[in-house]
Amino acid sequence: NNYCVIMGGGIGSRFWPFSKEQKPKQFLDFFGTGRSLLQSTFDRFKKIVPIENIFIVTNDAYAEITRQQLPELSENQILREPMRRNTAPCIAFACYRIRSIDPDANIVVAPSDHLILKEDRFIADINKGLEFVAKNPVLLTLGIMPSRPETGYGYIQVSEENIDGVHKVKTFTEKPDRELAQKFYESGEFVWNSGIFLWNVNTVLEAYKNYLPDIFNKFNEGKDVFNTPKEKDFIDACFPFCPNISIDYGLMEKAENVYVITSDFGWSDLGTWGSLHEMAEKDENNNASLNCKALYFESYDNIVAMSDGKVVVIQGLEDYIVAESDNALLICKKSEEQRIKHFVTEVKFRF
Ligand code: GDD
Ligand code: MG
Repeated sequence: NNYCVIMGGGIGSRFWPFSKEQKPKQFLDFFGTGRSLLQSTFDRFKKIVPIENIFIVTNDAYAEITRQQLPELSENQILREPMRRNTAPCIAFACYRIRSIDPDANIVVAPSDHLILKEDRFIADINKGLEFVAKNPVLLTLGIMPSRPETGYGYIQVSEENIDGVHKVKTFTEKPDRELAQKFYESGEFVWNSGIFLWNVNTVLEAYKNYLPDIFNKFNEGKDVFNTPKEKDFIDACFPFCPNISIDYGLMEKAENVYVITSDFGWSDLGTWGSLHEMAEKDENNNASLNCKALYFESYDNIVAMSDGKVVVIQGLEDYIVAESDNALLICKKSEEQRIKHFVTEVKFRF
């Protein structure tokens, strides 16, 4: 059977000060649609697998807000991590749980911070992918045609080799530096990793065994406790020993059996202010105003976001992020937005 795992435990620090540790971006409704990014993700997958087969993995601290936002889920569909260990342990947890329910499960793993405009195409690609991994022991990802030399994504080099038109991945490079991203982009051989993965549970656990043996061995010790009352104690004891590593660095860069379906479903990772600027409505000078009434003079390419509908006047500003929340204000050059993560660390350290 088919299952869906939604990862919702990140803190979205590049979106500070909107996205904060207490309420990260996946729980926010950026465009005033009435549904948060997490809820929209859930709404999409509801059309692909039965609700009982959807699992959310998140930090203990976000279990409550997850429950509030997704009341359709039963308690045991929210998998709680006692601490942040990035996506490799998160996915291992979900896979062990699901395997204890269905030893031959096919799983789609998805982030909760994406915007997807063409839902029909998305659903068609996921269904195609689930069928593909049910037949082939491969790790499948959905790729996106790149539109700029973005450094915040994984880059996939696509080879000619294919099974039924699904291409084998030659190389996978997570978050290359600027120079490398530029090279990849210009070569035309690469697509972005969407961060949406599909696999049979046994295929991915075999990959953990080969490339992330520390995580594999830890979880495997407890393989019989999943989906029993002992699971929580096991997870609480196991997580501190897991290395803090993402699935991209831990598995996808290393595995040999990675395949990709290049998709076109109006994808955007709402990972940074710049990506939000790209998606948002803009005036004739390319300024985007979110949740505020802004007047611009001699100003171009800015994104201005307030928490409370404030009036803002901007003069002589170009290519900036101006973002305010109840107790913090950020003013940062748009091209430097990848540094916001580090600013947040610094803020935490100093104040
Ligand atoms: N449960 C849980 N626990 N979820 C987590 C954790 C964790 O410790 N850390 C991150 N997540 C969730 C985030 O909430 C998000 O939905 C998803 O996992 C991906 O994490 P991000 O931190 O947003 O990753 P990224 O955007 O930097 O990079 C990934 O996505 C890109 C596309 O959006 C990679 O897969 C890249 O290769 C990819 O291009
Ligand atoms: Mg992301």
